[in-house]
Amino acid sequence: MKKKPKAKSKLKVKLPKAKAGKRELGRAEAKTDVMPVHVPAALLDQLVQEATAVRERAYAPYSNYLVGAAILTKRGVVYAGCNVENSTFGATICAERGAIMQMVAHGDSEPIACAVVTKDGGSPCGICRQVLAEFARDMSIVLVGLASPEGESGRVVQLADLLPLAFRLEQ
Ligand code: THU
Repeated sequence: MKKKPKAKSKLKVKLPKAKAGKRELGRAEAKTDVMPVHVPAALLDQLVQEATAVRERAYAPYSNYLVGAAILTKRGVVYAGCNVENSTFGATICAERGAIMQMVAHGDSEPIACAVVTKDGGSPCGICRQVLAEFARDMSIVLVGLASPEGESGRVVQLADLLPLAFRLEQ
């Protein structure tokens, strides 16, 4: 029996040529022009303190999951936000977006770091990652868990790693 010829796909995908010793679509390509900003540890500590304090004001009667976020901008100013839940659930605002609203309302726009404090060190949700990415291609994100099994824990990750290939509307 004759084999049916395979249907040719019209879709043309151009893949970058792999260079010797380099992964094809590695982090370097994905991050392109992103330069990591170094934020001194003392400033990150202060950011965590502010996020911990604002977390106390979270309004989370439905999930009982309190989140505090604090954003540091290039100007050296810190903007804080906590999650505010709503009985419709969908109208809930996350802490990170609350902090971004504060930043914008104060006429600031260049975040370089964000601390997120929860009980378990949870990281920003997808929507918050995209909202943070609106204002900076990359920033340090400090994730702090106050009551993790191993006690208080913290780690620093980069937004560009949490949200590679963030959506951008090029105008
Ligand atoms: N929450 C945040 O505040 N930030 C996030 O990035 C993830 C989730 C809040 C929303 C809701 O009030 C609670 O955590 C549980 O989802």
